Amino acid sequence: MEFMKNGKRIDDRLPNELRPIKFEVGALERADGSCYVEHGGNKVIAAVYGPRAVHPRHLQEANRAIIRYRYNMASFSVEERKRPGPDRRSVEISKVSREAIDPVIIKEFYPRSTIDIFVEILQADAGTRSAGINAASVALADAGVPMRGLISSCAVGKVDETVVLDLVKEEDNYGQADMPIAMDVRTGEVTLLQMDGHLTLDEFEQALELGKIGCASIAEMQREALIQKYRGEENE
Ligand code: CDP
Repeated sequence: MEFMKNGKRIDDRLPNELRPIKFEVGALERADGSCYVEHGGNKVIAAVYGPRAVHPRHLQEANRAIIRYRYNMASFSVEERKRPGPDRRSVEISKVSREAIDPVIIKEFYPRSTIDIFVEILQADAGTRSAGINAASVALADAGVPMRGLISSCAVGKVDETVVLDLVKEEDNYGQADMPIAMDVRTGEVTLLQMDGHLTLDEFEQALELGKIGCASIAEMQREALIQKYRGEENE
């Protein structure tokens, strides 16, 4: 498959360009915090409940809150119907996403409690774990959960020997490498880094730099969406 033509990608973007991204804070009424995200062809909703009592009780921790994260892909979110329910992929993504967000949450404030994060993928077009993490991070802030910073995530990769930012499905599925990252852009701490495919050390460093720039742009959009929502409420 040919990915690059005259320096542009299959969807006409430059190698260092993100897809259009839109955050809607507080999209769900019954959740304590929520966020709907459109990221290119991805449509994702995150709902946060808590801090609240832990069930089953034996999971509770005496001196801090526990964090639970469930990533779920709707059966209608992909081209070929996905069998409903958890599978190996969603269990893995739930785990790495929880670990990506966990470090910024100030868990000591809520002993014997849980903070539950639900991420539902309504439409998928590569980068759904990143879109989910971005939405979850905003939903946590919307819920008023105390955090040291926001986590921002995007994928980088390689197609036609070119390092590119924010892969679409064809680039992700048939390209040479796909590397999702997540970080706290304030501190520079990287909290998720996975890789499918191959990169040379040079390409890896180039990709990481590009990913950090992508995360910084996303962090700005997350901040802006939260400010918009709460400034709006102040004026009501
Ligand atoms: O979505 P993400 O890039 O985080 O994870 P992935 O496992 O690398 O999946 C890449 C893309 O493949 C997804 O975003 C979907 O568009 C597609 N996919 C699919 O069509 N059917 C599945 N059962 C899983 C993924």
